[in-house]
Amino acid sequence: MSEKQKKRLIPAIKGTKDILPQDIRKWQKVEAVTKKTFELYGYREIRTPIFEATELFEKGTGQTTDIVIKEMYTFTDKGGRSLTLRPEYTPSVVRSIIEKRLYLQPQPLRVYFMGPMFRYDKPQKGRYRQFHQVDIEVFGEKDPAIDAEIVEMADALFKKLKVTDTEVLVNSVGCRRCRPAYHKELRRKAEQAGERLCADCQKKIMTNPLRIFDCKVKTCREASKGFPEITDYLCPECEEHFSKFCSYLDLYGIDYRREPRLVRGLDYYTKTTFEIVSSRLGAQDAILGGGRYDDMMKDFGGPDICGIGFAMGLERFISVVPFTEKKEKFIYLACLGDRAKRAGMELARYLRRDGVECLIEYKERSLKSQMSRADKLGAAWVLIIGEDEVKKGLYQLKEMATGMQRECSREEIMKIIQESS
Ligand code: HAM
Repeated sequence: MSEKQKKRLIPAIKGTKDILPQDIRKWQKVEAVTKKTFELYGYREIRTPIFEATELFEKGTGQTTDIVIKEMYTFTDKGGRSLTLRPEYTPSVVRSIIEKRLYLQPQPLRVYFMGPMFRYDKPQKGRYRQFHQVDIEVFGEKDPAIDAEIVEMADALFKKLKVTDTEVLVNSVGCRRCRPAYHKELRRKAEQAGERLCADCQKKIMTNPLRIFDCKVKTCREASKGFPEITDYLCPECEEHFSKFCSYLDLYGIDYRREPRLVRGLDYYTKTTFEIVSSRLGAQDAILGGGRYDDMMKDFGGPDICGIGFAMGLERFISVVPFTEKKEKFIYLACLGDRAKRAGMELARYLRRDGVECLIEYKERSLKSQMSRADKLGAAWVLIIGEDEVKKGLYQLKEMATGMQRECSREEIMKIIQESS
């Protein structure tokens, strides 16, 4: 390898993003408001590993989903086990609830989580290979009031963060009792459509015909227009659940649109499914998606406990949250000479101990140059420390916004700064 090759920058992986210091405040604010909102509804945080046994997602997310068929980051570890970086969170939570016997705690059990997910999808605006989700899950509540409560919680979060131009889409995908009859009819219609469906959709006729509604190919979209709709095939229990869910959304005054083609890209849903989309996002317009999955816990070998939840894509959400950066409130210590530098180091330690953000730079510079550095960096105050100041124990504090300057002791500096914030 040549010297030039050795020094070549190794770039970030396609579909991943650095979240830079200039953007982090927005992320931190959104994360904090989100956590606070969820906690208000009784959710508590859970954290599970980033990788799990591949089988967990094959079984949970589903063998016929795009995620499992083509998007998983799967690898064999040194012990020969097949592991997968989580593409979504729901199967991991269910695994943890069963394994740690959290289902023995009073139900409904409400948990939330925030963290990175991994999907090998084609990167584009709003679609990444590593992205972040906030996810909530509720276990052990059959009442459709909870379905409406989680949509209301998302709505409350959107309102708190002043996110507008969104639409709530809702549907019911039925259950194991009513879906077979619907699938039969859907297959019949899809077979009749024959060549008008793409090769992928023709395969889906046998594996999971519902997924045909997800296809973006124009001819498939056209052909599927005449296909039967799941909501016409719901059993009385699913029908009642769906109508109550909608009536509770009405009660909350939440606008929504019934979208019978909203099947969602995951295999586990039963009854309610929903998404919140934004007209500001372009092709990847879903900010949040979720639904009920009443069979997963028992299919994983756990007790027969129902579940419901949603996940929100943080990159997409943050891109529609309006944000005005709060001015940083820190003090720049301009030290002139070695004695002043030592005094400045001590002073910074004293101020930081009580929560005052300080910046002290160690390169020797003139006062003029330090003032201009402080200005460029956005300091709210500059504390000038020279030989005389050190002797007197009194320093020159300059407020950058007004240009006002006064002599203060370290106690006075602390008081002025604390009172101003
Ligand atoms: P999902 O619809 O696959 O659902 O993902 C939820 C959200 O994650 C999407 O609405 C989107 O905002 C974001 N998202 C998904 N893929 C990407 C990507 N490649 N790049 C950027 N953002 C993305 C689930 O994951 C389910 N586990 C939700 C759930 C929880 N259902 C029940 N409980």
